[in-house]
Amino acid sequence: MSKKIILVTGASSGFGRLSAEALARAGHTVYASMRDTKGRNAPHVKAIGQLAKEQGIDLRTVELDVQSQDSVDKGVAHLIAESDRIDVLVHNAGHMVFGPAEAFTPEQFAELYDVNVLSTQRVNRTLLPHFRRQKQGLLVWVSSSSSAGGTPPYLAPYFAAKAAMDARTTSRIRESLPTRRSLPNMRPVPMRALGSRCKRRSLR
Ligand SMILES: NC(=O)c1ccc[n+]([C@@H]2O[C@H](COP(=O)([O-])OP(=O)(O)OC[C@H]3O[C@@H](n4cnc5c(N)ncnc54)[C@H](OP(=O)(O)O)[C@@H]3O)[C@@H](O)[C@H]2O)c1
Repeated sequence: MSKKIILVTGASSGFGRLSAEALARAGHTVYASMRDTKGRNAPHVKAIGQLAKEQGIDLRTVELDVQSQDSVDKGVAHLIAESDRIDVLVHNAGHMVFGPAEAFTPEQFAELYDVNVLSTQRVNRTLLPHFRRQKQGLLVWVSSSSSAGGTPPYLAPYFAAKAAMDARTTSRIRESLPTRRSLPNMRPVPMRALGSRCKRRSLR
């Protein structure tokens, strides 16, 4: 594959971070995007900068909070201004929660839906016009094996959100078929990625 410009969301930790580093090592220009780059995630920005220097790879960081349209717009605008194009978008940002379904408030369900589902819509609506302008682009969705069946207990809010993302992606793929754009949907099996954070709740 020729050198691509790749944007990975939620690349401060876990699969996002691992993917960003691996893709940069493979010779691509990779934007490891994350929120709060000047605060909580500042150490990750520094570590990524050091890694890029030591290994001579083109791995960059950019501020992009997938739950803020303003942040998404600014992050994508920064990337386009710097690299002029975007070839691949990896929808990785997301959060898992653990606990009995009843323990979660509707607001907590909505928050999980926002980060796992609505976030992809924010990024798509900003970025897809660039794919159209370029007449090409690749969208990669990090879904969950839960969407393919299997519903163990204590993961209801997370699995429901991932299933929503998956259904939405499947429709999106069908919408794209006439243009033959490729939209892979990856469904990782459960695993604890490096630095993974998972919120837990229990019944009172
Ligand atoms: N681990 C598994 O078993 C598994 C299985 C199937 C699918 N997945 C999916 O894989 C993806 C990555 O998960 P992971 O396991 O690697 O967990 P993780 O380490 O917790 O990674 C989640 C990433 O998303 C980021 N994120 C959360 N909210 C964000 C926001 N508003 N804006 C930007 N970034 C945000 C987090 O950044 P902060 O550090 O700023 O919070 C973090 O870097 C998720 O979509 C998850 O659903 C995981």
